[in-house]
Amino acid sequence: MLVFRDPQKLQRWALKQREAGVRVGLVPTMGYLHEGHLSLIAAAKKYADAVVVSVFVNPIQFGPNEDFEKYPRDEKADLAKCRAAGAAAVFLPTPQTMYAPDASVHVTEEVLANRLCGLRRPGHFRGVCTVVAKLFNLAQPNVAVFGQKDFQQACVIRRMVRDLNFPIRIVVAPIVREPDGLARSSRNTYLSETERQQAVGLSRSLHLAKRLFREGQTSAKRIVARMVKSLEADGLQVDYVEIVDAETLDPVKTVQKGNAVLLAVYDGKTRLIDNCLFS
Ligand code: PAJ
Repeated sequence: MLVFRDPQKLQRWALKQREAGVRVGLVPTMGYLHEGHLSLIAAAKKYADAVVVSVFVNPIQFGPNEDFEKYPRDEKADLAKCRAAGAAAVFLPTPQTMYAPDASVHVTEEVLANRLCGLRRPGHFRGVCTVVAKLFNLAQPNVAVFGQKDFQQACVIRRMVRDLNFPIRIVVAPIVREPDGLARSSRNTYLSETERQQAVGLSRSLHLAKRLFREGQTSAKRIVARMVKSLEADGLQVDYVEIVDAETLDPVKTVQKGNAVLLAVYDGKTRLIDNCLFS
C-alpha cells in the first residue's frame, strides 16, 4: 500500500493511473477509522481498481468553538485498517501541505448548505466542499464514495459535482451501526458510559418515525413532535429534527415514501447526527 503525504506526489501518481486506464476510487475521511469508513472502502472496490483513502482532519470545516483540536486521531491504526481493507493508497496531508497560508479560493454551495446542520455550523459545508474539491483534483478519482450517515453532506457534494461538472461518479453507501442501533462515528469516543447508553435514543426515534409512517401517519409535524418527545425522554437535547425531500432538502408537510428524516442532538456535550429514509 502506498502512503502519500505530499499532495503533488499523490496527484502525479493518480494522473499516471488514469493514463494507464486504472479506475481510481476515492474515500475521503477524517480518520480514526471505524466499520462505517471500512464499508466505504469495500464499496469503492466494487467500482474501482485502485482505492485511495484520504485521512485528513480538515481545519476549515470546523467552527471556532468546535472540536478540531480534540478530534480523535490515530494514524498508525488507520494505516493498518486501510491496508487490511485492501486500499491501494492512503493520503495523509497536513493543514500546511493542503492550504497555502494565503489561500483565497473556496467552494460554496449556496442552497442545500444553508439548511439543517449548515445553519448551526456556519462555514462547515464551505470547508467540506473546498477540501473535497481539492481531494478530487489531487486523487483524480473516477468514483468517490460517501456515507449516508452524513446525509446533508452527500447531497451538497452531489450538487457540487453536478454544478461544477466534476467527471466523478458519487456513490452513497448505507449507514453502518453498532448492534444496538447507534450509527458508528469517530465522535462516539467522546461519550461517557451513560451518554453512550442514551445515544441509542437517536436510532430509537428513527424507528418510531418509520413505524408511525407505516401505520398511516403522514403529518410531518406530528411525527417530528413524537420524535422530539422520544429523544428528550432518552435524555438527549434536540438540536433539530426535520423531514425533508431527500434531494432538495426542502421541508415537507406531508410525508411520502422516499422522504428523509434528519436529526441532530446533543448527548451531553457531544453533537450526534442520524437519519433515515421513509420506505
Ligand atoms: P468522516 O466523518 O471521517 O466521514 C468520512 C466518510 O465516512 C463520510 O462520507 C461519512 O458519511 C462516512 N461515514 C461515517 N460514519 C459512517 C457510518 N456509520 N456508516 C457509513 N458511512 C459512514 O465526513 C467527513 O469525514 C468529512 O466531512 C470529509 C468528507 C472527509 C471532508 O473532510
